[in-house]
Amino acid sequence: MNTNHAAPERHWPAGFIWGSATAAAQIEGAAHEGGKEDSIWDAFARLPGAVAGGDTPERAVDHYHRMPDDVALMKRLGLDSYRFSTSWARVVPGGRSVNQEGLDFYSRLVDELLGAGILPWLTLYHWDLPQALQERGGWTNRDTAYRFADYAEAVHGALGDRVSHWTTFNEPLCSSLIGYIGGEHAPGLTDPDAGLAAVHHQHLAHGLAVQRLRGLADASGRDIRLGITLNLTNAVPNDPSDPADLEAARRIDALWNRMFLEPLLLGVYPADLLDDVRDYGLAARIQEGDLEQIAQPIDFLGVNHYHDDNVSGHPLPAGTRPSLKPTPKPGRSPFAGSEYVTMPSRGLPRTAMDWEVHPEGLRTLLVRLGREYPNLPPLYVTENGAAYDGDTVTDDGAVHDPERTKYIVDHVDAIGRAIDDGADVRGYFVWSLLDNFEWAWGYEKRFGIVHVDYATLVRTPKDSALAYAELIARAKTQV
Ligand code: NOJ
Repeated sequence: MNTNHAAPERHWPAGFIWGSATAAAQIEGAAHEGGKEDSIWDAFARLPGAVAGGDTPERAVDHYHRMPDDVALMKRLGLDSYRFSTSWARVVPGGRSVNQEGLDFYSRLVDELLGAGILPWLTLYHWDLPQALQERGGWTNRDTAYRFADYAEAVHGALGDRVSHWTTFNEPLCSSLIGYIGGEHAPGLTDPDAGLAAVHHQHLAHGLAVQRLRGLADASGRDIRLGITLNLTNAVPNDPSDPADLEAARRIDALWNRMFLEPLLLGVYPADLLDDVRDYGLAARIQEGDLEQIAQPIDFLGVNHYHDDNVSGHPLPAGTRPSLKPTPKPGRSPFAGSEYVTMPSRGLPRTAMDWEVHPEGLRTLLVRLGREYPNLPPLYVTENGAAYDGDTVTDDGAVHDPERTKYIVDHVDAIGRAIDDGADVRGYFVWSLLDNFEWAWGYEKRFGIVHVDYATLVRTPKDSALAYAELIARAKTQV
């Protein structure tokens, strides 16, 4: 490891899980092979201008064909667990009948992982809805929630004998608000009513799937751990003495954090949020009994965290680029008439995404969650990582990425400090194992700890991967 970036000595809780994460649409490729049909991301990426460089997930990094080698790589890095997603469009192509060939792929993956001593950590929805369901309204259609529970059952039928850790949704904020209001993600809508309907229906889908999976596991006497992964942020007022900035931070916290945490953990939507979005169709979508269905007990909460959001209630200064989050565009906001924006202006270092690097924010967030939600289940940091420009394979056959290494080591240290402060954090998954299809950014932004040459698809562990492997090995001697 680059000793400049060595993690401080620390005793990690016994059983702490060290992993890495990916998602089906970002790595698999084989977008129209093995019975798979279009997901919304296949369709969206074909729209001119939707994805940088006109990139598509058609081939991605060809994990579908290289899966055993990729698992061998994980083993070499010493990962305890691999967080991956199943593609709904591969398992239930066209949103209709189950595709055994799709399930077989995931079954082989799970066997390969178990054979390598790696715990499979499965996510059912990482944004790739079958396009056929989108054509029936996608997440604006309440029926999609029921289709999701059926899809969960199909996956469980094939893998439930070997997979114990199940996540319903990854970052529902993105697949609802960015996809249906921000327009930057599939399906590319810019309609606040649709976005809020998507939020509620994804919550409902989560609750229905948790009940379905719990029932199936109980009936077969199997151990199952069920959870969801949220992308949570610290909404930091740009000027804490400015009432407009404080109000903006409250609204962003309501819309980006509490709109997800409170229905799921407490069975309510926050009153201030309902008031903020009163002109849009959230309340109208909530049917009697929905919140009880949604607030099912879960066994863990996944937290994805990359950066804080520095929030202002004032218009963006000319030339400032808002972050890739919903609401900054006037007219598309659930807060019509006002601009609530993020302004990365605290003078902190930035990644290639223009995201602030502030590991302390992760510590604050993890500690705060435990304090604010007394019934909080154990936490896992299910994503954290960084894109930086300039990852190239040098003459020595290596990829030197000291900034990413430092980012990872410093965030791991922040988690250790959060644990010292009482947060119940039980694992860390670095995003991402491989360079991959970074959604609207296409292949332009590289988050991998393993470099992928997009021409040859050759994988080369970056220095950060080697550093992470060393960090894991050392952590295991420090329990
Ligand atoms: C969160 C998403 O879950 C993942 O798919 C994405 O690539 C990373 N953030 C980086 O933007």
